[in-house]
Amino acid sequence: MAKVHNKHADAGLVLDEGEGLSPGALAELQLGRLQWSVRHAYDNVAAYRVKFDAAGVSPDDIRSLDDIRRLPFTTKEDLRQNYPFGMFSVPSERVARIHASSGTTGKPTVVGYTQNDLDVWATVVARSLRAAGIRPGMRVHNAYGYGLFTGGLGAHAGIERLGATVIPVSGGQTARQVQLIQDFTPEAILCTPSYLLTIADAMEEAGMDPRSSSLRVAVLGAEPWTEEMRRELEERLAIDAVDIYGLSEVMGPGVGNECVETKDGPHIWEDHFYPEIIDSETGEVLPDGAEGELVFTSLTKEAFPVIRYRTRDLTRLLPGTARPTMRRIAKIVGRNDDMIILRGVNLFPTQIEEIVLGIDELSPHFVLELRQAGRMESLTVKIERRVDVPTEAGDAGAKLLVRRIKERIGTSVEVSLVDPGELPRSEGKLKRLYDLR
Ligand code: DLL
Repeated sequence: MAKVHNKHADAGLVLDEGEGLSPGALAELQLGRLQWSVRHAYDNVAAYRVKFDAAGVSPDDIRSLDDIRRLPFTTKEDLRQNYPFGMFSVPSERVARIHASSGTTGKPTVVGYTQNDLDVWATVVARSLRAAGIRPGMRVHNAYGYGLFTGGLGAHAGIERLGATVIPVSGGQTARQVQLIQDFTPEAILCTPSYLLTIADAMEEAGMDPRSSSLRVAVLGAEPWTEEMRRELEERLAIDAVDIYGLSEVMGPGVGNECVETKDGPHIWEDHFYPEIIDSETGEVLPDGAEGELVFTSLTKEAFPVIRYRTRDLTRLLPGTARPTMRRIAKIVGRNDDMIILRGVNLFPTQIEEIVLGIDELSPHFVLELRQAGRMESLTVKIERRVDVPTEAGDAGAKLLVRRIKERIGTSVEVSLVDPGELPRSEGKLKRLYDLR
């Protein structure tokens, strides 16, 4: 087993078997598992069988990792059409747990796990938290929502598997979260980045300096966030802020995680989830380094295998660093569906976040409102000035924001400055965009 350097605690850092594989051994493992997974999906899920047959491809055609390109993609629409259990591939008595993603439109996406799937999930989350610098014996405040959402229970099992102490708080009741952090003195917190901002605000309201808390590391995900947001949170709370990536369809949290020593994008746990990047329009597979849509094939999942599942998340695949054999993804730019097309210019909320956080007078609390007046579309950035900033200085910040968005993104927006505390606070996944058209 390999040992790696880690900023927080070198002693006792032992990687699990999968993480420590050599590149050659990883590729061999992946091929065997891919062949198994494709066969398993084909034999047990009618929807896969129909699609593979229509594409004229059989599980026996998978002789190398590149042969994955012969398989058809799976989309969210496929899952919807088979609601609720049509894509499960084991008898119902072998399904140990069900989760569902809320889904802003239409029916939720339902996913299932066998006991073995739950075991793998706990292993990859434990691996994720270890990469983030969490160690056995540390106390971990888990503020991801418990319930059908995969965040709470998924993180919970990984904390236990790692041998850390889990404080299962779930989301919401922010004043109580602050109290519990003061009383139980956890070293680590798990929540969405926007909720950590809410918690930091609440700490200040309670008369506490967020930098003085016991927290040393935050493992943040479930929504897009930028390097600028990382800096904001790290400075405000005197912590390391580390990125955790995942989605229900592929497993939940812990499909990949950033290593605290490099903070250069989540390493994908490729021994269980095989990533590809494709051109969203053409479906063509793009080389590593190119930006496109992230696609996953599960290699070990029993109850709910996914074959070339289109995540709609936009990013790039990059070479491994701190875990050299596993590739990383760059920070997620956003989802296909979050892209705003404003008078012909494409933009993502993360681009606005980057610019906002470069302006001292403006707080990270903002929402985007999209309107239509006749044939004209308009975008308003509704944003709070920082607490200690007077209104006039805030106005100057707002003007600067208009100018920088024009310069860097190439489109005109309106900025509406509001008082601190006026906008709704996130308690989980933040809703940034309000489409009022
Ligand atoms: O959000 C799983 C999760 C829970 C991940 C807790 C991390 C921490 P879903 O509700 O199915 O699952 O939403 C998945 O959230 O496709 C991305 O669009 C987004 N997302 C998740 N993690 C990140 C991240 C969970 N680190 C969807 N950065 C994904 C950017 C993320 N976006």
